[in-house]
Formats: sequence, C-alpha cells, structure tokens
Amino acid sequence: MKIPVIGNGDVKGYEDYIKMIDYTGCDGVMIGRAAMGNPWVFQNIIAGLENKQYTDPTIIDKALLCKKHFNLLKEDKNEIQCVNLTKKHFGYYLKGFKKASEWRVKFMQSKTIEEVESLLEGLIQYCSKEFD
Ligand SMILES: Cc1cc2nc3c(=O)[nH]c(=O)nc-3n(C[C@H](O)[C@H](O)[C@H](O)COP(=O)(O)O)c2cc1C
Repeated sequence: MKIPVIGNGDVKGYEDYIKMIDYTGCDGVMIGRAAMGNPWVFQNIIAGLENKQYTDPTIIDKALLCKKHFNLLKEDKNEIQCVNLTKKHFGYYLKGFKKASEWRVKFMQSKTIEEVESLLEGLIQYCSKEFD
C-alpha cells in the first residue's frame, strides 16, 4: 500500500506496540482505550523505544493529573459539560487503590464545579496521607 497504514486495537503498552509493528508492518500505531485514565501509556512506549527505564505513575500522580485534567476542562467547557466530562474521565483515573470506588461515587454525585473542587482537595489529601 502506498498510503500509510495505522495499526490499532488492544495496544496497552510497549510490548503490544512492538507486536503490532512486527506482526502487521504498519506505519504507525493508534491507541484509544488504554490511554483513558492512563496517558502515561505513551511515555511507556517511548521509554521502551529509547531503552530507558519506565516507572508506573503513583496514586498521587494520578490524583494530581485528575486536578490538571479538571482545570483544563474548566477553562474549555461550561459548568455542566465540565462536571459531566470530569465524571467520565475520573471513572478511568480513580481505579486500583483502596477506597477508589468510594471516591468515584463521590465524584459521580457532584453537580457543580465547587463540589468537584472541594472533593479534589480531599482526594489529594487522602492520597498523600495514604500512599506517600
Ligand atoms: C477516547 C477514544 C477516542 C477515539 N478517537 C478516534 C478518532 O478520533 N478517530 C478514529 O478513527 N478512531 C478513534 N477511536 C477508535 C480507536 O482508534 C480504535 O479504533 C478503537 O478504540 C480500538 O483501539 P483500542 O483498543 O486502542 O481502543 C477512539 C477511541 C477512543 C477510546
């Protein structure tokens, strides 16, 4: 084929990326679901390609990224869109740690930017205390 071919589907990190390139000979790889709540997946692949060490993000890294993501949504969206998208994305970030499901429920129940802000402060404090 003369046009570039992009491989995708179930690529979750460096090993899947290499398998996709080796098996299909594609020109590029696209990642969808694995990047939801884990944008570090791209650093993982770059580290593998550069033969560098990769360390998974900590729970505190995730909580801080929640805040950054929320602040970007706040800049870009109206209040309803911002709160709804915050809920959607936080459902991906807030997984795999003690009380994660309780935090997801709390964010799911929030209706205003103020409520999300106050919960975020609580989340960051909780994560710093519990996982530092
Ligand atoms: C959040 C998200 C955004 C996506 N955006 C696009 C897009 O803009 N264009 C496109 O062709 N496919 C898009 N897809 C589909 C994916 O590229 C891909 O076909 C599908 O999700 C399977 O790959 P995955 O296993 O990496 O998710 C998107 C998927 C997700 C989850």
